Amino acid sequence: MPPYSTDSPVLTAAPPDDVAHPQSAHAAFIEVRGKNDVAAVLINAQGQILEATEVAASMLGYSMSDLVGRSLQDLGATGWRWSITNALMRLGSACAKPFNLQLLGRSGRRALIEMIPRPNLRERGVDRHHLLVWREQRTCDRQVPLSAGEAELRRLAFALLDTQDDQRSRIASDLHDGIGPLVIAAKFFAEGAAARLNGGDMQQATTMLETTVARLRDVLSELHRITVQLRPSSLNDLGLLPTITWYCRDFGQLKPQLKLGCDLRVAEERIPAELKLQIFRIIEEAMRNVGTHSGATEASVILAEDRHELELRIEDNGCGFDAAGVLEGDPGGMGIGLHSIAKRIDGTGGRLEVCSHRGRGTALTARWSLQPAS
Ligand SMILES: Nc1ncnc2c1ncn2[C@@H]1O[C@H](COP(=O)(O)OP(=O)(O)OP(=O)(O)O)[C@@H](O)[C@H]1O
Ligand SMILES: [Mg+2]
Repeated sequence: MPPYSTDSPVLTAAPPDDVAHPQSAHAAFIEVRGKNDVAAVLINAQGQILEATEVAASMLGYSMSDLVGRSLQDLGATGWRWSITNALMRLGSACAKPFNLQLLGRSGRRALIEMIPRPNLRERGVDRHHLLVWREQRTCDRQVPLSAGEAELRRLAFALLDTQDDQRSRIASDLHDGIGPLVIAAKFFAEGAAARLNGGDMQQATTMLETTVARLRDVLSELHRITVQLRPSSLNDLGLLPTITWYCRDFGQLKPQLKLGCDLRVAEERIPAELKLQIFRIIEEAMRNVGTHSGATEASVILAEDRHELELRIEDNGCGFDAAGVLEGDPGGMGIGLHSIAKRIDGTGGRLEVCSHRGRGTALTARWSLQPAS
């Protein structure tokens, strides 16, 4: 077999539909292996390569036996691990949509490869295998003009930097304006208590010490608020449901004019671990929009399991907006919020629906398939 040539940007691969419906991913692989020009790998649920055709191996400069045993995570180029994790999650939930991954070849050459999953018809066990047909998109080390998608990614990367700067200044002002005065007050009352104790005025000293303790309690809760905003550690310690409850209570306190409901109708253990942080970030982003743009007097956050689906819904009775125009219009004209919500949902194999009409509020719904409860 001739070695894979880097001059040819597209490898001739049989589209997956060419393969007769096999009984399993493994049987499909054996069938594909019989075709000389197909680049394909068989992977397990963790992304480890169990079998590979010679064309797939030579695409990355490996021999077949060298490629087998490696995992997509090990082969992933810098910055692509999250995409690989997402892709494996999607495969695990029987999503057969093709996806692109950038892998590192043996020589360090980066290759952007389209991976076309062969729908897995029979293997429904826990140890599920997947057949992926590979098509190289292009060599990534060459200078090529940016595609629309890449240009959009760049725009988002810059927008993210802006957001990071915003967040830093918010943290700085939280520390300076929120914690600073509380600590100064605590110090003032502690010094006052010491002076009263020296003067023998026990009653005043006690009162001042009690005030000191109250201010220190405020410092702790302010610190808690700031750290949770940075990274909700309660997601790991307590779970998603208590974290959402806490978030809604906190949001309601900051916006007393908004009546915010929180309706959680799913068991914590039914929510896939990889979804928890994503769901929390989606709620944060959507609620930020409710607070900033909607002018709503009522809103609710609903997370529920319904017929093997996990449904997240954030709705408000505010001014509404032209959702289709914003989501499908010129991406340069929209903020980063809705875009990041859409990416998070898409990246985790979910579906997004935004229903909004001017003057009649907004409902943002995300749905993910769940494995049937055992
Ligand atoms: N709940 C809502 N009610 C009314 N309008 C909304 C709502 N959510 C979004 N919008 C509209 O959609 C636009 C895009 O929202 P998006 O979150 O993408 O960007 P942004 O909030 O303007 O900026 P960023 O999120 O980057 O700070 C908003 O500017 C606003 O006009
Ligand atoms: Mg926003």
